[in-house]
Order: sequence, then structure tokens, then C-alpha cells
Amino acid sequence: MDKIEKLKKVRNDIIKDYSGRDIKDTNIDTLVKDSKDLQYVIIKDIISETKDTKSFILIPDKSKGTDSLEPFKAGQYISLKMFIDEEYATRAYSLSSRPSLAKKGEYRITIKRVENGLVSNIMLDNMKVGDGLTISRPMGEFGYNEIRDEKNIIGIAGGSGITPFMAIAYSIIDKEIDANLTVFYSAKTKDDIIFRNEIESINKKSRKVKFVITLTREEADEYLYGHINKEMLEPYIKEFNTVLMCGPKTLYKTMNEILMEFDIPKKCVHYENFQVDYTPSEIKKYSLKVILKDDLVETTCKSDETLLVAMEKANIKAPSMCRVGICGYCRSILLEGNVKMIGSSMVKAMNENDYIHPCVSYPESDIVLRLDI
Ligand code: FES
Repeated sequence: MDKIEKLKKVRNDIIKDYSGRDIKDTNIDTLVKDSKDLQYVIIKDIISETKDTKSFILIPDKSKGTDSLEPFKAGQYISLKMFIDEEYATRAYSLSSRPSLAKKGEYRITIKRVENGLVSNIMLDNMKVGDGLTISRPMGEFGYNEIRDEKNIIGIAGGSGITPFMAIAYSIIDKEIDANLTVFYSAKTKDDIIFRNEIESINKKSRKVKFVITLTREEADEYLYGHINKEMLEPYIKEFNTVLMCGPKTLYKTMNEILMEFDIPKKCVHYENFQVDYTPSEIKKYSLKVILKDDLVETTCKSDETLLVAMEKANIKAPSMCRVGICGYCRSILLEGNVKMIGSSMVKAMNENDYIHPCVSYPESDIVLRLDI
């Protein structure tokens, strides 16, 4: 039976049975709810880091069955899952806490306001101590890998990209990682430095970790001035280095040009990436049919938003974690239609087998998608 015939059969079976039930009662919801990947937490404390950034201390919500928190490796993130005005949304946030604290039942995530950012602004403006949250287990490959990496780590951080480096720094201080770390952290002004007191304390106490802060919009005696450049890096580059970067994509581009001047091989440079950028030549609206186990949901999608976002707007709890085509968690089968996929060659290669990652797929026609769960 070819793909279309299979689809027709599935659709006919579904339509016969389709009762228009509330999506919240569908199988996907039950599956997501029962997944061991989820952890239920309570906000224990909220710390104001800068005028637009707050840290949230999270502890297990035992009343919902989360007795302890999953351990994490420095550099990993959790995916926060929320319902906002009937829309299901997930966002990835790096864990900024000391990894050893997870064993004692504590995580920290640090969130910076994003212009028009849905989840970040709800977190900053609406959430309070005692509120509950649903998060994934820790995920991601960003960070130090003792088999792959050199012991001289150069960190490059821009804005809220400093968050995973705090966890990496604490892992070195706590001797979980045997390496030296120098983090170059670019902030706009003194008041925009996240974790300023913590960084100063680490700089005073640790011989293995050093933060070098540079301000791009203000001159101050205790900090460097200007964007991270070759002269700043030069004293810290050794014969063998591993470079870890977390920040806006513009930073990656500039830094890659500088790293080439030091002859640092590309395989020694690793990135954390929570952004997907794509602008279609024109904005068009298409139909989107999503098959979820025994249900069919029909909605619409637009050429300037990913299929994952379109599904979330339709209140479909599509699986997702990283949202940038890395974790593979959202993998789905494209039964009909064409998409523009952004991302790694691994993600694009899967497309040849009709698998797509909705988090990095922009529709270019009407779409029929089957969630691969
Ligand atoms: S959510 Fe990770 S690949 Fe799509």
C-alpha cells in the first residue's frame, strides 16, 4: 500500500471515530502527561539578577509525584512546558545551578526578557514563589566532554548565554570536571551583568576558573570595553583548546572568524543554540492536518512559523525539547506536503526518509503530518 493509500485508510478510520473531543483528552495528552521524561517542580525562590533577568530556584513537587530531581551534566538544559491562553508552549532553558545541588533537590534556571517572548515574559511577570511548573528531564550535549575535549576550555558568552557556564564553572570547582575554564562574557553595561556577585566571588576564589567580562556600551574601570576580540583572547589560548559558545548567532559568526586566526580546528568549537532563524520570501497560509495516534486534528499553519509553533497554537501537545533540531524528540512523519527544513545535515538527511523535525520545519504547502510517538 503506498503512502497516500495508507493515509486515506488511517483518515477514514479516524473520521469514522472522530468525535470532536477536546484535545486535552486525546491520547497525545495522556502520553505526554505520563511520560517519565517529565518532572513537576515548585518555584522555591525568585532572584532578580538584572532589570530584565530573574533566576528561579526549583524544587520537586512531591504532591505531583516528583520526589527528587534528575541529575544533570553541566551545560544541559530543561524544557519548560506551559499552557498559555489555551496554547501549549515549550521553551528550553539552560540549568545555571551547581550540578551537585540537583542531588539535594534543587535546580536553577535563569530567564532574560525577550521582546515579544511568550514564555519568558510570563515567567518574569506572572510566576511567583509557590507556583508549580512542568519541566523535562535535563537534556543536551553542550558542555565539557572528557573524551572529546582539551583541558583548556575557552568559553564565549553573550547576554543570557552565560547561564550554562555557571554550571560548568561549578563542576570544575567541585572537581567533577578536570579542566581549566576562561569565560569571556560580553554584556552591554555593568547593570546587565548577570550573576555579577557570583562571578566576582568565583574569580577571587578559584584558580581553575576565570571570568573575563567586557562591556559593549559602557566603560568601567574593573571591566574590559568593546566586543570580544583577538587581543582579549590571545593570552588565554594554549596549544590545544576547546571552545564553547553560547549567545546570539551574530556572536558566533564574529568569533568563528577570530578563532580561525588562532588555527583552532572547527571540531574543537561547540555551540549551544536555542534559536532558529528563517524568513520566507512571502507569508502564506496553509492547511495542517495532524494525525495523533487515533485522532486527527485539522488546523492551519503559516510559512513564517514552524510546524511545531502552528501545532502549539492549535493546542496540540506535540513532543518537543530543544526546539532547534538537535534532540530529535519532535521527529514526525511528513505524509503530504513540502517543508523548508532549517538545521543540521542530520536533520536534513532524515527528511529524505519522510521524517521531519517540526521545530525547524516551515511549511511550503498544505501539510499532513503524523506524530511519531
Ligand atoms: S524539539 Fe528537539 S529536534 Fe525538535
